[in-house]
Amino acid sequence: MNALSISGLDVTLGGLPVVRGLELHAEPGEFVSILGPSGSGKSTTFGVLTGALKPDAGDVRIEGNELNGKASRVAFMPQKDALLPWRTVMNNLTLGLEVRGSKRGPAREKVRPLLEPFGLKGFEDKYPAQLSGGMRQRAALLRTVAQEQPVLLLDEPFGALDALTRSEMQRWLEQMWEQYRWTVLLITHDVREALYLSDRVYVFSPRPARVAAEIVVDFPRPRTPELLADPEFAALEAQLLKQLIG
Ligand SMILES: Nc1ncnc2c1ncn2[C@@H]1O[C@H](COP(=O)(O)OP(=O)(O)O)[C@@H](O)[C@H]1O
Ligand SMILES: [Mg+2]
Repeated sequence: MNALSISGLDVTLGGLPVVRGLELHAEPGEFVSILGPSGSGKSTTFGVLTGALKPDAGDVRIEGNELNGKASRVAFMPQKDALLPWRTVMNNLTLGLEVRGSKRGPAREKVRPLLEPFGLKGFEDKYPAQLSGGMRQRAALLRTVAQEQPVLLLDEPFGALDALTRSEMQRWLEQMWEQYRWTVLLITHDVREALYLSDRVYVFSPRPARVAAEIVVDFPRPRTPELLADPEFAALEAQLLKQLIG
């Protein structure tokens, strides 16, 4: 069974057709990226999956069940403002679970074993402003993962980071994924990021979004930065860039 399937999805916002006839899926444990031009409807698609936006039409399923509008079965890391500046790191980390109805104590117990692998041990009582940009993104990701939902939605998680931190985070995320094998849908407009991390990449058309291309990325794992210099990787990167900017 698919972890996630979207078929015939149409979304209109303020009279504007934003998504039309979108088809996509993710298998359990698959890392899938959505690559698309800015304003093409990527975040809008996530809005439907989280239940924040009502589609005009379409069939959307998580593990075979239609979205029911109540408890969302996806864990979502938003494009910006993921952490609340007035809450400590720990109280940010438990937030996703608390929103889902957990009490703070049990939520802390669930979060605690993840502090070490996410490189946040010892920073529980700090505030987001006291962390580096990379640590803030790891915290936002930890909060998302801790919700233990069947699908993780990551909306440009590294978009605001400098280039060096960004490639460090990509390496780190690939290693984490090797270990945990989450089902991930990641939005990015960075072709290298999509190729480095993914099993499969969807290229969205300009608005209204539909799938313009689907690429299977079958480079062996674990992936390492040497892959970036592989001629096959470079060729795929060039092909995707061409698809993206025409
Ligand atoms: N509430 C809204 N009302 C009208 N248009 C919107 C609304 N939200 C987003 N849009 C438009 O929908 C398009 C897709 O937005 P979005 O899904 O955020 O794009 P992106 O692919 O960059 O994530 C954009 O052109 C945006 O201006
Ligand atoms: Mg967006």
